[in-house]
Amino acid sequence: MTKDSGRTAAIRAVAALGLTAALVGLLFWLDLAAYYDWIKAVHVIAVIAWMAGMLYLPRLFVYHADAQIGSDKSETFKVMERRLLNAIINPAMLVAWVLGLWLAWEGFGFSGGWLHAKIAAVLVLSGIHGYLSGATRKFAQDRNTKPARHWRIVNEVPTVLMIVIVVLVIVKPF
Ligand code: HEM
Repeated sequence: MTKDSGRTAAIRAVAALGLTAALVGLLFWLDLAAYYDWIKAVHVIAVIAWMAGMLYLPRLFVYHADAQIGSDKSETFKVMERRLLNAIINPAMLVAWVLGLWLAWEGFGFSGGWLHAKIAAVLVLSGIHGYLSGATRKFAQDRNTKPARHWRIVNEVPTVLMIVIVVLVIVKPF
């Protein structure tokens, strides 16, 4: 990562955190407790969009890693990756976090072992999200050094986390 793109990524991350905090505050201010189930429904819709992108993006990297630099195929992958990240994955993650934090406070006062474990797993998932964002930038600059096999393995991580998160929130085992 160049110094400039690293700084831009840091600024974007801080802006996303600020926006998340502001939107969670707004939801509390609006006092939407009566709409708990509707908000949960939108949370699940956002989570589905986020997960779809988190499973598809590393799959694109698998094929992109084998495409010749400068080829039409490689340039097409760049457009697909950028749009997937900016139009689907990033906004879906923001909505999932904002509504998830609201649900956690409104429904459970942030208590419960399952909830703490779920939030920890979602933090790891968000870390993978950051890693995939960085990789999208590297691919866009033709600076990916990882082989297709690496991206195949990375592709499995969101799947495992998703299984853990869904079991925690539905079964609430502890
Ligand atoms: C971003 C941080 C997240 C937080 C703070 C959060 C928190 C919550 C909370 C408190 C609920 C309500 C549970 C209930 O009413 O029983 C909920 C529902 C749900 N969440 Fe999340 N969540 C987050 C992200 C995710 C992710 C990444 C997934 C899946 C990969 C997910 C899947 C679900 C599902 C399936 C439900 C519905 C559960 C039910 O109705 O029984 N959440 N979430």
